[in-house]
Amino acid sequence: MSLGADPTSQELRTRQGQDPAHPEFWESRYREGITPWDHGAVPPDFLQWLGEQRRRLRVLVPGCGSAYEVASLADAGHDVLAIDYSPAAVERARGILGDYAGRVHEADFFAPLPGTGWQVIYERAFLCALPPRLWPSYAQRMAELLSTSGYLLGYFFVAPETGRGPPFAIEDEHLGELLDPWFERLVDRATAASLPVFRAAERWQVWRRRENG
Ligand SMILES: C[S@@+](CC[C@H](N)C(=O)[O-])C[C@H]1O[C@@H](n2cnc3c(N)ncnc32)[C@H](O)[C@@H]1O
Repeated sequence: MSLGADPTSQELRTRQGQDPAHPEFWESRYREGITPWDHGAVPPDFLQWLGEQRRRLRVLVPGCGSAYEVASLADAGHDVLAIDYSPAAVERARGILGDYAGRVHEADFFAPLPGTGWQVIYERAFLCALPPRLWPSYAQRMAELLSTSGYLLGYFFVAPETGRGPPFAIEDEHLGELLDPWFERLVDRATAASLPVFRAAERWQVWRRRENG
């Protein structure tokens, strides 16, 4: 029998709504139109990478938000699945994607996903959306999902860590420690078009899954 110490469902929702580890946090921001991370278009470094690909790839886009990149990937013939655990994000992405709406699923990155054998996982504003306590699980999950020699690539918010966020900045050395057991960093460069919320500190990076990591 409850002695009154259990939170009511309203209290629980409020608490979860303040923790970026819970979908409620993101759900309310999409519903209220507070999306300062939203690029509003397909970012240029990604388009450049896409233009260089010569074979058909299986691509996963976790924490996809508006998922602008999905149409470019699908138009180029790639087999792409985008996931987000906020129903409002999924609704928004599907509205933007039209004919490609079916490529977006409501799912939690840390739970079982439809499909395996991803050759590419595209990162944008996903790691920095997660509280730092989840970063080791992120790295492990990325390694689990990617096939050997697959690529984790995209935008990383690399700046002095403050513990405040989202977006939660990660220091370069910390990012290396996190991913190095499973991935080798092949590319790391500044990006031309970073939104104010990322304080010009987004970097375009490509990490290859190690064979024996
Ligand atoms: C800062 S937004 C970035 C969205 C998109 N990648 C972009 O570049 O606009 C972070 C997104 O990750 C989603 N997200 C956070 N944790 C998640 C999880 N465990 N599984 C799936 N989606 C998650 C949120 O719902 C939100 O849409």
